[in-house]
Order: sequence, then C-alpha cells, then structure tokens
Amino acid sequence: MSKNFKDIKTLDTPQGNLNLSWDTDVLIIGSGAAGLRAALAASEHANVTLITKTTLTESNTHYAQGGIAVAMNLDDTIALHIKDTTAAGAGLCDAGAVEMMVSEGIPRVGELLDWGANFDWEGTLPRFTQEAAHSRRRIVHKGDATGRETTDVLIQRVLNTERIHVLQNTFAIDLLTDEGVPEKREAGVTCYGVTAIVEEQVVCIRAKATILATGGLGRLYPCTSNPKVATGDGFATAWRAGCEMIDMEFVQFHPTTLFLDGAPNFLISEAVRGEGGRLLNIRGERFMGKYHEKGELAPRDVVSRAIQIEMDLTGFPCVYLDITHKPKEFILERFPTISDTTKRYGLDINVDLIPVRPGAHFMMGGIRTNTDTQTNLKGLYACGEVACTGVHGANRLASNSLLECLVYGARAGTNATVFAKSQPDHPPDIPLPSNVGASLASIADAAAETHTEATKIAVQEALWENVSIERNGEGLQKTLAELQDLATDLGDLLTSPELKDIATIETVNMLNVAVMITESALTRTESRGAHYRADFPTQDDTAWQRRVLITRDSPLEVIPF
Ligand code: FAD
Ligand code: SIN
Repeated sequence: MSKNFKDIKTLDTPQGNLNLSWDTDVLIIGSGAAGLRAALAASEHANVTLITKTTLTESNTHYAQGGIAVAMNLDDTIALHIKDTTAAGAGLCDAGAVEMMVSEGIPRVGELLDWGANFDWEGTLPRFTQEAAHSRRRIVHKGDATGRETTDVLIQRVLNTERIHVLQNTFAIDLLTDEGVPEKREAGVTCYGVTAIVEEQVVCIRAKATILATGGLGRLYPCTSNPKVATGDGFATAWRAGCEMIDMEFVQFHPTTLFLDGAPNFLISEAVRGEGGRLLNIRGERFMGKYHEKGELAPRDVVSRAIQIEMDLTGFPCVYLDITHKPKEFILERFPTISDTTKRYGLDINVDLIPVRPGAHFMMGGIRTNTDTQTNLKGLYACGEVACTGVHGANRLASNSLLECLVYGARAGTNATVFAKSQPDHPPDIPLPSNVGASLASIADAAAETHTEATKIAVQEALWENVSIERNGEGLQKTLAELQDLATDLGDLLTSPELKDIATIETVNMLNVAVMITESALTRTESRGAHYRADFPTQDDTAWQRRVLITRDSPLEVIPF
C-alpha cells in the first residue's frame, strides 16, 4: 500500500489512532532534508517513525533558494571544495567532517538526481551557479526554489516507503532517558525516544534509537530568513537531556533579507549577487568595494557587517540590491520565486531596486556529534542544522547546508539503525514523565498566551540588540541579565514537568537557547567567522583556536580544537 501525500492525515497510522505510547525501532524528529534523508536510510533495515511539528513541508529546507554545493563541475575538484569550505570556517572546521561531506556529497546529490530532482541543466551537465566565497561555479539548483524541489523528491520517496510512518502536527517536548534510574545511569545515559504533543495530548513515543533533525533557530531573532517552525526546539531539548552543545556563538546572518512594509520575512538569495547583483546604499553608492576585494561576493559575515555599517552611516534602515541591468528574460527564468513574491508587494525586480537588510539565517553550532552523528547520549543521533560535526567551523559556506543534510542525514539513518538492531525487542521499564496522558486544553488560557508572546518578543529584541551581527562585552552582559530576568518571570514554567501549551514550550526553548548563544559569545573574546566582537576585533589564533562547550550540569568550558 503506498501512501499519497495529499491523503495523509494527522495520526493516520497503520495501526489506527495513536495511543498514549507508541513504539518504533528508529524515531526521527523533523522533516527537513536531514530528517527525510535519515528516514530513507533507516528504513532500509528498520521500522521508522518520523514526526514533525506542523506539516511535512514546513522546514527551513523547503524555503532554500540558492542550491546545493557539490564538486561535480568539469573544472572543480574535491580538494578545491574542501579548501573553500575550510577558508570560510575561519580555522575551526573539522577536517575529517569536511572531507566526508564534500566527497560523500557527490553520490548523495547523484542519487537525488536519480530519484527525479529536476534541477536546471545545460547540455549534459547541471547548470552550476556561483555563490560567495566559492572559487568555482559549483551550485546545482532549481531556479531559486531548490529547497522545494529537494523536499518534494524526498517526501514523495518517504511516503512511498512502507516502513516509514509519518506523524504530522506532532510536537516533540523532551527526550526520554534513563537518567532517573540509578542502576542504569552507571553505564551512561541512554535515550529511549521522546514525549510529544499530538492533538493537544501528551504522548510518549518510545524508540530503540532516536535522531534529532529539528533544524535551526532563526526565529530567536526578529529579523530572519527562517520560517515559524525554527524556534530552536531541538537545541533546547537536547541540552535539557544532558547533551553537549558546542560552537553556539556562531550564528550566521544572511546579508539580504527583504525589507518591505507589509511583506513577511523573505530571503533574497545570494545567487542574485552570484549572477551580478550589486549592493547600493540609500545614496545610490555601490559600497562593497570599500570592504572586500571580492566586493558583493565577499564572505557572508563581511557583507552583513558592511551593510550594517552603511545603514548606520546613512541612518537608513536598509540598503538596496540591484539586478535591473540583467535581461528581463534571464531574471524571470533564474529567479521566478523572488520575482513572484516581490511582485505581490508591488516591487518589480526587473526595474526596481530591492530593499534588503541582514537577518538571522543559520546556526553553525549545535549538538556535538562525531562524523557518525552520535551524540554523548547512547541511542541519540543528530544531523542537519541542529547538529555540530564541526563541518562549518565559525562560518558556513553558501549552499553547504543542504549538502551536509544529505550526507549526515544518510549517515544518521544508517548508524541509528545499527544501534536499534543491537537493542532488546522490548523497551526497558523506565518511568514515564508525569505529563504523559495529560490534556492541554486545561491550561491554554488567554493570559498565559499573552505572557508567552510578550516573552518571545523580549527574547528576540534582547538578542537582536546585542547578540547579532556586532557584539561587545557590555551589551552581551546586558542581554544575559535581561534573559535571566525573563527566565525568573517565567518561573516554574522553565523547569516544571507540568503541562504547557506549545507556544509556552517554544518560549522556554527560545530562552534556553538564547542563554547558550549569549554565554558562548561572551566567553569568546576575539572575532572569528560569524562572531564579531567590536571590543576584540581581531582573530586570535593563539588563545582562541578553541571551542566553547556548554552542558546542563557543568560550567561552560573552553576546550582544545
Ligand atoms: P529543517 O529543514 O529546518 O527541518 C527541521 C524540521 O524539524 C522541520 O520539519 C520542523 O518542523 C521540525 N521540528 C522543529 N522542532 C520540532 C519539534 N519540537 N517537534 C517536531 N518537529 C520539529 N542551505 C543551502 O545549502 N542552500 C540554500 O540554498 C539555502 N537556502 C536557504 C534559504 C532559506 C530561506 C533558509 C531559511 C535556509 C537556507 N539554507 C540553505 C539553509 C538550509 O536550508 C538549512 O540549514 C537546512 O535546510 C536545514 O535542514 P534540516 O533538515 O536540518 O532542518
Ligand atoms: C541563499 O540562497 O542565499 C541561501 C544559500 C545558503 O544559505 O546556503
């Protein structure tokens, strides 16, 4: 029986409605490229349950525009792609992880093409495009909607795979572990799945192996390219369960998000600059030449900072991206999504300048994993944006994220399956959290909702003010104090196992993660990659070619690279 995407319903599982407890071999949390690719790999030898917060298509992946970087062009090599990735990472890339991503990326992209990804072609080769800090044209893409094409192909394949059970509108709250069982703890904490909210009820999904693929955290900032689901849940959930979190100070800001009255957060792809787009300030001056020899194609952190400086100098809240010198047919064919979206807000990119400013885009840090995607909890794997193998170092090269998701998603699926197969058939007898079985309706009152929304906005503003493109010690201290006050205000909600509604859990997650980013940024007293400290403006390799590690139970640590 093959499932049809349009027919799939919440809780429509082969066994009928979901009970309070559901068992699976491999549980995957998240339906972006990493989670979907992991599900396909795991399903080769195990039964898989994939849960996702809203619908299958709602993810950062779905909105990806520019493309996937892969060393497939005739003038390109694995060595060159490694060199560019490592240069962007500013001394903190893990060499083994980069080599693995770049070399295994070639068959991963190849199989995506075999599975029907309809990327743009030129003769017998994909039409490779250029993006910043790449020394070759190596980005495969589908117009400016590469993410949609990628997820469509992966989702269709997942839905045609009998062994994968998909639960949409299923919100992961916390990981289930045996931490509370003293005789088990001796051997190290093991993860056995997750508690989740399904149709306003808390259920427990038990798994022999669990993969976190919950994506990014752009929504911690008021200005972002990320969709609403990106509230950093996976980072907070992992931290609360005792995972090691690393490189959390490295948040990437994309230089060009749309800044237009009434328009939602929307990315204007780097590929627009790759194809010749020019940045102008409000005075009409092309300014990037002042900041970097590569002009508009300088690394993202350089372009974002330059835009911020121009905005400060001119006192104007945005700069402009100009692609009007390119032929209309080219623009429409190459950037149909951007053309259509801006048109809805009265802007014709063939003749009008595009108002843009930087926004939070990508998290380089995350749950510490090795290249087998294992975390420090047994039975728990992480892949994609929520994980940190060290592949991006201090700054990600454009279009390397989808590549990472495909490579490490597949590895996570395979490795989690091997672990699941080594486990006994029946789940161990560990006590379930007291909220399992509770119903949400009782606490979702209007006052709680208003309180939660106000806290979310306060977290976003505090981070934007002092923990965004430019940071300094004083500002970081101020934000840390503000976050601590917000945590005090939330009081018991932060730690209580009692029932919370999804908005409150998201707010708690945002607060947990905001503190991790701020503490890490305060600790790193230098500037490197996406982390720029105005009070320590240079890169200090002697003191700081190191990594910042955060765990729930120990003080923050600076560890050797
Ligand atoms: P995501 O794709 O974000 O998926 C995470 C999933 O987890 C979602 O389904 C979400 O709903 C689910 N989830 C989250 N929390 C929970 C929870 N509590 N319970 C259950 N489910 C949960 N990268 C490139 O390489 N090339 C590009 O061209 C590119 N363009 C981009 C354009 C935009 C607008 C954005 C936002 C990002 C872009 N990136 C690009 C970055 C890249 O898209 C992401 O880093 C990547 O897709 C992340 O994939 P992922 O599978 O790790 O997470
Ligand atoms: C973009 O299209 O500019 C985003 C690419 C990326 O984040 O890799």
